[in-house]
Amino acid sequence: MASIAVIVWSLYGHISKLSEPIIEGLKKSGANVEVFQFAETLPGEVIEKMHGNKEATASLPVIQPDDLKRFDGYVLGFPTRYGRAPAQVSSFFDQTGALWFSGALVGKFGAIFTSTASQHGGQETTALTTIPWFAHHGIIYVPLGYIAPELNDVESVGGGSAWGASTVAGDGSKQPTKNDLSIALQQGTHFGKVVSQYVKGAAK
Ligand SMILES: Cc1cc2nc3c(=O)[nH]c(=O)nc-3n(C[C@H](O)[C@H](O)[C@H](O)COP(=O)(O)O)c2cc1C
Repeated sequence: MASIAVIVWSLYGHISKLSEPIIEGLKKSGANVEVFQFAETLPGEVIEKMHGNKEATASLPVIQPDDLKRFDGYVLGFPTRYGRAPAQVSSFFDQTGALWFSGALVGKFGAIFTSTASQHGGQETTALTTIPWFAHHGIIYVPLGYIAPELNDVESVGGGSAWGASTVAGDGSKQPTKNDLSIALQQGTHFGKVVSQYVKGAAK
């Protein structure tokens, strides 16, 4: 059975909400799932000034670099910061040098989901600029492709792309849509299946 870590960072809860169907899809595929958060780097008073609400992730264990070794794959979820990953994610990968040096993550699998305020605020660039971490560690990136029919919807504002599930948060009051959640479910199931197939094959 594939073991998959879902690792999130979310300041206003959109990524937490989107992680729910991702987790559901992974479980549906038969994978073992554990959920973590990236360590916070912002001081509490800054989070307060930004009106952040971290309630949804407060009880999640903080991922440590060595935790990565015991999983076959990782689904990373975080909102965009200027079209790329937040510093919290970058700071985590900056601590994984020993894993990189020993090649501990070579042949593992990775996928990404994200969130932006505006429709063209950088969902695809956020995924694209996350891939160097995967590449340097030898982690195999699994895109979503166009397996979800909702990706072809051009009638409404929404997230999702070939790179993975996503949502458009607007001023923060806009929540993941039915389509966003469906795409996330399909991404979870797809990623779980891909990793499971590999794990089964490797065990032969
Ligand atoms: C410093 C900063 C930079 C941001 N950069 C972008 C951006 O480049 N494009 C965009 O659409 N939204 C941007 N946002 C908005 C966040 O992506 C948005 O708040 C987030 O997607 C909501 O997800 P969350 O509820 O999981 O935190 C930025 C927000 C902050 C605080």
